Amino acid sequence: MKALMQELRENALNAISDAESIDSLDALRVRYLGKKGELTAILKQMGKLSAEERPVMGQLANQIRSDLEASIENTRKRLEAAALEARLQMETLDVTIPAKELKLGHKHPMYMALDEIKDIFVGMGFTVLDGPEVELASYNFDKLNAEEGHPSRDWSDTFYFDEDSRVMLRSQTSPMQVRAMETMPLPIRIIAPGRVYRKDEVDATHSPMFHQVEGMVIDKNVTMADLKGTLNAVMEQLFGEGTVTRFRPHHFPFTEPSCEMDVQCHKCGGKGCPTCKGEGWIEVLGAGMIHPHVLEMSGIDPEEYTGWAFGMGLERLAMRRFKISDLRLIFENDVRFLEQF
Ligand code: DAH
Repeated sequence: MKALMQELRENALNAISDAESIDSLDALRVRYLGKKGELTAILKQMGKLSAEERPVMGQLANQIRSDLEASIENTRKRLEAAALEARLQMETLDVTIPAKELKLGHKHPMYMALDEIKDIFVGMGFTVLDGPEVELASYNFDKLNAEEGHPSRDWSDTFYFDEDSRVMLRSQTSPMQVRAMETMPLPIRIIAPGRVYRKDEVDATHSPMFHQVEGMVIDKNVTMADLKGTLNAVMEQLFGEGTVTRFRPHHFPFTEPSCEMDVQCHKCGGKGCPTCKGEGWIEVLGAGMIHPHVLEMSGIDPEEYTGWAFGMGLERLAMRRFKISDLRLIFENDVRFLEQF
């Protein structure tokens, strides 16, 4: 019987250590230690033993039971650890794998140029105004001295909303001068950037929608010298020190005298090249001393106050600033183009 028990012990320990799953381990426990298991079967034969042998065999049986239980417990721990390890292997997160690239856009070059312009003027004490794109013709024309019959009021040039030409898409940012004069206390220093609309065919230098930046100063003793000094300083900040400008006489209904300002071509230094179309100069804005009648119409006494104003094309400025050759590139929004800035 002793030999039988030793054999059972050997077999059971081998089977337990070979077990490959928790399930087969449980089956082995039942097989060897269960109520109907092999050890129990042997113990049932204890009755046949002598009184001296019985306690010895009983002790041996207990020893075997606890050996097997310990072995089962060890194997269970080993199997559980292995299972955990396998699961961790499967679920491993490799934190060193490079993340998916997030494509971040950036500001459009024209708005980059506008931000620079705003910064320069705000630094000089100007306020930035925003105004309506759907405008009254009285603000776009009448109060700016462009009376009925003025060529710019023609239906072939302007987008009107109504038969009697009272409501329109503004054709310039200049109506913001009137809106500022009517609502702001004097002295006034403003710029007003925004979209304007004209019935123009699209080509390398024209678009039916484009952007202007209007500027205006009204105070006592303001002269043309202030206009020139301010605009020269702005152009130097925008295009670099030593930027050369020139002022040419021009005509606008709302200024007297009126002028246009050119910046010397950055490519050829004034000699003439394809960029400046052989001119040596690039026109950037219209300006002038505000017409006394315009001041008067908005309730400002031209004997006490004077002012100057300008309007510049933002696209043209951005094109110069970033050396862009075709206006259409600004509006097409091809990322391959925009990414370069
Ligand atoms: N509004 C003019 C245009 O669209 C530009 C302009 C010229 C604006 C002279 C002004 C100015 O304020 O004083 O061509």
